[in-house]
Amino acid sequence: MAKPLDHLLDIASLDDDQIHSLLRMARQIKSEPGRFRNLCSGRLMINLFYESSTRTRFSFEIAAKRLGMDVVNFTAAGSSVSKGETLLDSFRTLAAMAPDIIVVRHPDDGAAAGLAAVAHSGLRVVNAGDGCHAHPSQAVLDALTLSEHFEDFSQLRILIAGDLHHSRVTRSDVEMLRRLGAGEIRLAAPEPLRPGPETARGTIQFDDLDRAIEGVDVVMMLRIQHERQSGLDLPSAEDYHRAWGLNAERLSRAAPGCRVMHPGPMNRGVEISSEVADGPQSLILEQVANGVFARMSILLSLLGGEMPARSGTQA
Ligand code: CP
Repeated sequence: MAKPLDHLLDIASLDDDQIHSLLRMARQIKSEPGRFRNLCSGRLMINLFYESSTRTRFSFEIAAKRLGMDVVNFTAAGSSVSKGETLLDSFRTLAAMAPDIIVVRHPDDGAAAGLAAVAHSGLRVVNAGDGCHAHPSQAVLDALTLSEHFEDFSQLRILIAGDLHHSRVTRSDVEMLRRLGAGEIRLAAPEPLRPGPETARGTIQFDDLDRAIEGVDVVMMLRIQHERQSGLDLPSAEDYHRAWGLNAERLSRAAPGCRVMHPGPMNRGVEISSEVADGPQSLILEQVANGVFARMSILLSLLGGEMPARSGTQA
């Protein structure tokens, strides 16, 4: 049995058993959702979001509610942040109201880890995205989605392309793919958006999307994170799309039936065309749907939950 999770801060902090256990439980929840309904009734989760979010915030909320938890949402706008309250004071204030889990999204790298370090025993912290650093629940849902389409990761050739430098999804997904033994991880980005050495470790790097995509089984596109950069010399949206956008013609260079992923939000006509995003090879909405199961698994693991016994079977 995997060691219980204290917090979920990044993929690197998980051991292999914990990763496999999270994925196994997510699959189980997806196949038999009724067995997991209300398992965590009476527990409280607070979403503490200092950045915008649609997928992550709502799917954590839906996941918690499916498990029977109470949920409270904090957004910086409309809170005492506007009166000068610090992240730490806001966290301590909310922690004093006795939640079991606080899910944090913040623009600073390491914000969630800093809060986990001061959390009282019994309070679990989940990193829902910290700056350019990590987005571990995205990596769990992406691995879950990939595992439904590819049984043997050692044969998988996957390309991640776009703004790799500012992307916390890239860092967490690359770590997850390495840990799951992906056969080939390719990274492709224009010069100012290339990843740092730690992210690039063990990957094959390209500076040209047409070459990078040749023969891959999966391509994951990432948007340009304009909110995390200033002063970079980037082409116009049209020029970027011409050089770095995924369209049907480019996708035809990949392996037949190549799957397309994107963590969202998408900028249509920039890093991806609508015909590809909405086309038959796209897994983008499957990723969104799997986000709920992945996050139910994460919450249950943080609360020390195990798979419930089937009714009629002995414990
Ligand atoms: N993938 C992701 O983190 O999306 P949101 O910003 O909408 O949560």
